[in-house]
Amino acid sequence: MTLATKSLLRVLDGLREPIPPVWLMRQAGRYLPEYRALREKAGSFLELCFDPKSAAEITLQPVRRFSFDAAILFSDILVVPHALGQRVVFEEGEGPRLDAIQDASALARLHREIDHGRLEPVYEAISLVKRDLPKATALLGFCGAPWTLATYMIAGRGTDDQRPGRLFAYRHPREFAKLIDLLVDASVSYLSRQFAAGVDAVQIFDTWAGVLPAGEFHNWCVEPCARIVTAVRKKIPNAKIIGFLRGAGTGLTSYIQAVAVDAVSLDWTIDLAFARDHIQRQRPVQGNLDPLALLAGGAALERATDAILEVFAGGPFIFNLGHGILPDTPVAHVEQLVRRVRSAPAHIAPADQKQ
Ligand code: CP3
Repeated sequence: MTLATKSLLRVLDGLREPIPPVWLMRQAGRYLPEYRALREKAGSFLELCFDPKSAAEITLQPVRRFSFDAAILFSDILVVPHALGQRVVFEEGEGPRLDAIQDASALARLHREIDHGRLEPVYEAISLVKRDLPKATALLGFCGAPWTLATYMIAGRGTDDQRPGRLFAYRHPREFAKLIDLLVDASVSYLSRQFAAGVDAVQIFDTWAGVLPAGEFHNWCVEPCARIVTAVRKKIPNAKIIGFLRGAGTGLTSYIQAVAVDAVSLDWTIDLAFARDHIQRQRPVQGNLDPLALLAGGAALERATDAILEVFAGGPFIFNLGHGILPDTPVAHVEQLVRRVRSAPAHIAPADQKQ
């Protein structure tokens, strides 16, 4: 195996980096004044996503400011329902609104295949970012996991517990399975095109994995993601893939047995020692600072950061948040965090040197 030139990719190859690579979920966004300035001039959030020059510029903004080890393409998981023919809009200050799928006939109106024509600007943005990205910085693409996408497509919006999607799955399991199948195929096709356009790795976001009982978790999260990973690797043999599941807890142990992701991104609620012993021993991990600790800053941020480094930095590890950065997070706190991670506390020894 030749050694990857980007530290994030070395971790995805299973190696431990002396200074863990760091990037943040939602690192491009409203907490950055330069994002807000661009956003104000744009017609809508989706127009921004579908304008390759703006999307590329926004992707690069946080990398310039904080020299993160990865850039994540500026876009949204809901461009996939859009490319399947569902109406998607983002209402100012309210989040996404879709034409909710309430019955089988609404499902039948979706395209049978993802319309790459609608996603062409995303692929173009990837090649623009590639051109300007420092050599050591990885470029990440992404998609939503089928379960998480389906919950938005059925509810038509985000809710506290994505109840409409869960109810639909209980009441109409066969139709729901068809929607999941459609989303598996769409995700495989979408991720493969992102690799072809130049991303180094992708992350699959299963933000709503934590609301399901174990059996449903297996059917709607584990199994579809396993199919996506296998099918993408058939097209792109060395495709590097990170799985993010929010709230999956101990379910992550069955997830890593079934899903051949290269790393698992942990949310902030998981017990650190449990994650080290049961996840990181088998797969590199990423995470998992509480976004509120970053918002709080100061001593609370340093304590929380150090606790994570002490547990995970002895093995293959990427520093990140446990979920997206909050819009009211001060830029100075992000600077403080990156400094702390990169000052690689001397007391953190590789796992194999620990007694
Ligand atoms: O991480 C990054 O910097 C890349 C860009 C990115 C966005 N959304 C930009 C965005 C990524 C990876 C996402 C993923 C996404 N989008 C998820 C999965 C991860 C997660 O955060 O849970 C989900 C569930 C969505 C759907 C979505 N998009 C919601 C619920 C919202 C509204 C909530 C909010 O934060 O406003 C969005 C909007 C959105 N996506 C914004 C950004 C920068 C804010 C739009 C604005 O500028 O008004």
